[in-house]
Amino acid sequence: MLLEVTGLRKEFTAGLLNRRKVTAVGALDLKIGEGETVGLVGPSGCGKSTAARCVLRLIEPDGGRIMFKGEDITHAPTRRLKALGKEMALIAQSPEGSLDPLYRVERSIAEPLVLHSDMKPGQRRQKVEELMSLVGLDLSLSGRYPHQLSGGQMQRVAIARALALNPSLIVADEPTSMLDVLVQAQILRLLKRVQAETGVSYLFISHDHKVVEWMSERVVLMEASGVGSGARSPAPAIISEKASS
Ligand SMILES: Nc1ncnc2c1ncn2[C@@H]1O[C@H](COP(=O)(O)OP(=O)(O)OP(=O)(O)O)[C@@H](O)[C@H]1O
Ligand SMILES: [Mg+2]
Repeated sequence: MLLEVTGLRKEFTAGLLNRRKVTAVGALDLKIGEGETVGLVGPSGCGKSTAARCVLRLIEPDGGRIMFKGEDITHAPTRRLKALGKEMALIAQSPEGSLDPLYRVERSIAEPLVLHSDMKPGQRRQKVEELMSLVGLDLSLSGRYPHQLSGGQMQRVAIARALALNPSLIVADEPTSMLDVLVQAQILRLLKRVQAETGVSYLFISHDHKVVEWMSERVVLMEASGVGSGARSPAPAIISEKASS
């Protein structure tokens, strides 16, 4: 199993005057195998993004356990997290928000390579070109800034960036919810093709049941209380069962 999350819990302290605890994630269980896509669905505010940030270890959980490639990373130290950053990547909802407005396409995609690899500039340029063609970006776009790209093109850049270090797991947090329907379909197909070519696993988060159903082998439903259990299969049956209730 690539990723195994058990009883994940995360609380936040909210309120300036009456400080109280808000449980963002109550008790989440999920498992993802190599090359597999697991969907995570649930209503707005149920804790999907918080769970994603815990899995990526951008934040530290308050309870439960996260096993990644057989290693307990629940409370992994900073030093280890830096190395883990090469093996997991995030594709966020807003392509604008995830790209530096001052970086040209080429630099945005190259940045993880600059930070985490010892590639020479020539090798890096070649890798950026490979990534651009993998995600269907014309090389003529490499000198553009984010504001000179369409939403779909920006999200392709974000996907190329996420793939730069050949991660084993990509967490895609509502990666198409800000795109129009046609572009959304293109990006979803792209994610599937990339998976077929690279064997990457996805934790695919969305509140759109149809999208999750199409993308994922298995689906975990999260409730408003932040509780979600088991990767249930097959996805479509669960979706229709829950959607009609
Ligand atoms: N840094 C924070 N401090 C305090 N509360 C937070 C913080 N981050 C999230 N929350 C709260 O935790 C709960 C879960 O938020 P989260 O963003 O994980 O939900 P979500 O399922 O991703 O929602 P959406 O579908 O709208 O993206 C919400 O009640 C939110 O207000
Ligand atoms: Mg969210």
